[in-house]
Amino acid sequence: MKDHLILGIESSCDETAAAVVKNGREILSNVIASQADFHEQYGGVVPELASRMHVEAVNPTIMKALSDADIKLDDLDAIAVTYGPGLVGALLVGVQAAKGLSFVSGKPLVGVNHLKGHIAANYLCFPDLKPPFLCLMVSGGNTMIVKVNDYCDMKVLGRTLDDAAGEAIDKIARVIGLGYPGGPKMDKAGQGGDVNAYSFSKTHMKDTLDFSFSGIKTSALNLINESKMKGKDIDIRDFTASYQHHIAKILCDNTMKAADETGIRTLCLAGGVAANSFLRELFEKEASEKGISLYYPKLGLCTDNAAMIASCGYYEYINGARADLSLNAVPSLVFE
Ligand code: KG4
Repeated sequence: MKDHLILGIESSCDETAAAVVKNGREILSNVIASQADFHEQYGGVVPELASRMHVEAVNPTIMKALSDADIKLDDLDAIAVTYGPGLVGALLVGVQAAKGLSFVSGKPLVGVNHLKGHIAANYLCFPDLKPPFLCLMVSGGNTMIVKVNDYCDMKVLGRTLDDAAGEAIDKIARVIGLGYPGGPKMDKAGQGGDVNAYSFSKTHMKDTLDFSFSGIKTSALNLINESKMKGKDIDIRDFTASYQHHIAKILCDNTMKAADETGIRTLCLAGGVAANSFLRELFEKEASEKGISLYYPKLGLCTDNAAMIASCGYYEYINGARADLSLNAVPSLVFE
């Protein structure tokens, strides 16, 4: 089969990114203009400012992705762009840029679900990985267990009914003064800590693969407040180690249950929270005990990037997916 070159464009939150990927697997370029340092002063992403920064960054980022890959627009087979879920103003910038490029070049346009993109990050790291497999998708705004039947055929087996695991981590990181972005900072703060030093509530979800993290977050807040009222400081290292381990255990228990129920013995992790060292360590241990093959992307491909969008876009493209110039941003794009 002839080689396919796909340009991926991503702007769903606070990273403006563009990448060129060959045949869904080989990264020829991967450019990310991150706004994280800028939003740190506000303690989180300010949507309006994010949109404006995407407008400034999008064209240079795309130009750099093409030049790093040493290709011209004309060499591309298709342009893939994240159209949801995400911040509406941020998404619109990427979608408009992709539509403009598709219009002037005549290259096909493919709309990509950002969450499916996260799953595809695994294809970029593991050339032999093929569906079917299970994937735990844990990003800033989503937590779900997905049965990947084929590249473009997926089914959500369980999802969070309230907060995402990433939100539960980011919120508590902010409360204990670690700042933004909370996930990586809490990961660092907990290194070497005692994972059994503090205990948190666990929401029991009977007969389902769904999750709930809001009660756990509240129990962490209560612990912090009780310590304050008693004039005692919490031990940040032990507290953050215990909290991350607790969240990782809930994610792992449900995912292993899904593996047992489906009989699927190949498991991938995806999304920003998959970068968490407590999560990775626990999954490594439990997967090896159960004889499950575990995959997770390297750190830079767990968080938002456009190479994963190009990879996912490639599989959608060869499956016949085409968008036209009516493609719009869908901030609450569903993933069934
Ligand atoms: O996938 P992502 O980059 O963006 C979304 O699509 O949401 O995920 C961002 C999330 C944030 O909650 C961030 O704090 C978290 O991923 N994150 C981490 C780590 N690195 C990023 N959470 C825990 N530990 C990390 N090392």
